[in-house]
Amino acid sequence: MKTAVRGKTSPQTNFEDEYRSSLREYAAGGGELALGRAYELGRRALNEQKSLIEMASLHHQAVLALIRDAESDKQREESIRAGSEFLAECLSPYEMAHRGFQDAVKALRQLNETLEEEIKRIAYAVHDEAGQLLVAVHLALAEMALELPEAQQGQVTRIRELLNEVEKHLRRYSHELRPTILDDLGWVPAIQFLADGVSKRANIPIRIDAIFSGRLAGPIETALYRIVQEALNNAVKHAAAKNIWVRARKEHHGLCCSIRDDGVGFDPHQVQTASHRNGLGLVAMQERVSAIGGTLQIESRPGHGTELSIRLPLEDSHANSNRTRR
Ligand SMILES: Nc1ncnc2c1ncn2[C@@H]1O[C@H](COP(=O)(O)OP(=O)(O)OP(=O)(O)O)[C@@H](O)[C@H]1O
Ligand SMILES: [Mg+2]
Repeated sequence: MKTAVRGKTSPQTNFEDEYRSSLREYAAGGGELALGRAYELGRRALNEQKSLIEMASLHHQAVLALIRDAESDKQREESIRAGSEFLAECLSPYEMAHRGFQDAVKALRQLNETLEEEIKRIAYAVHDEAGQLLVAVHLALAEMALELPEAQQGQVTRIRELLNEVEKHLRRYSHELRPTILDDLGWVPAIQFLADGVSKRANIPIRIDAIFSGRLAGPIETALYRIVQEALNNAVKHAAAKNIWVRARKEHHGLCCSIRDDGVGFDPHQVQTASHRNGLGLVAMQERVSAIGGTLQIESRPGHGTELSIRLPLEDSHANSNRTRR
């Protein structure tokens, strides 16, 4: 077997050739130095976004070549053993990246749970505390009205009506912030409730087409609700849409939920790579989807509306219509 020890890798070196020769070098007794090259190749492959399948196929070809060139059974056996060690070392950066990803997802889940608790707190504060204050204002107003001349009673009535409107809106916002429906009936009725409110406020028809009645795990339902909430907010705020559609259905072993509008559209690539982005909505959406193991696809073009599609793998245990919530 050839035992050429090569110099430092030049950036132009073909990755596949580099892999084959480094593996050959290791199999020929290259030792720690050659194994270090396996690790460096793994890092390079990760940076160049080579998939595990590509790596496995490259390794397979490289080992086959070694076996072909081997002059005895012993050498063949040695090639296979060295090949396994080389591959394990080469893939260790992938393993580390995978662990890092799992840690990040865990941290994201915790962050979202904390955020949900905070949202709940705000929703209750808006509902209960602001509600109590409004009751106090009503009482003070009624007391004041007793001493006012008849001519000014009409103004008091008008103020009362406005206060009632404020109360109605606060109640609605607090329910949308953290709808109890979400815990009691699930994400589909919660999204229907949300869409109803948004549609009335923005005067845009929102059609919900949900062929999915099962319940999902609590954090998944909350994430779906938040994602649809942000997508509807964006459609109202940025799209100048005439219509919005929300669809949810089971696909193979997963769930697909899409939110589409016929508004002005935008260039997602430009928004996502802009050097200083102001909005947080799309980033938060992406993070929520990742935290529940799903994918988010944004299809939009200026002048052609926007469609967001969320795909989630579903295990059978996720769907359960009679389960007690968290
Ligand atoms: N449905 C849509 N139609 C048109 N443009 C959109 C749509 N959704 C997002 N955009 C564009 O993408 C940008 C980023 O959206 P994102 O939700 O991240 O931020 P934002 O809505 O501007 O702010 P935030 O969500 O933090 O309140 C928006 O500013 C807008 O230009
Ligand atoms: Mg937004």
